[in-house]
Amino acid sequence: MKFPLIAQKKPSKIKLDAGIIYSWCTCGLSKAQPFCDNQHRQYPEATKSLKFKVEKAGDYFLCNCKHSENKPFCDGTHNKL
Ligand code: FES
Repeated sequence: MKFPLIAQKKPSKIKLDAGIIYSWCTCGLSKAQPFCDNQHRQYPEATKSLKFKVEKAGDYFLCNCKHSENKPFCDGTHNKL
């Protein structure tokens, strides 16, 4: 399997709280997109989750294609895949 897998070719709009550490799925396997559910542990070659937090609470578009240049946020790359 070649990682990252494309989970979806559109982002998820998610309400995030300030200062909370979130775990974004980088491998594309998670069933809880866009967040990691530890499915990556089944494959040694799969990429691990990316921990992040935001300084300001609000709605954010999180990448589901896993190819954004601004991970974990969507940058429109899914339109080119
Ligand atoms: S399930 Fe994809 S990074 Fe953990």
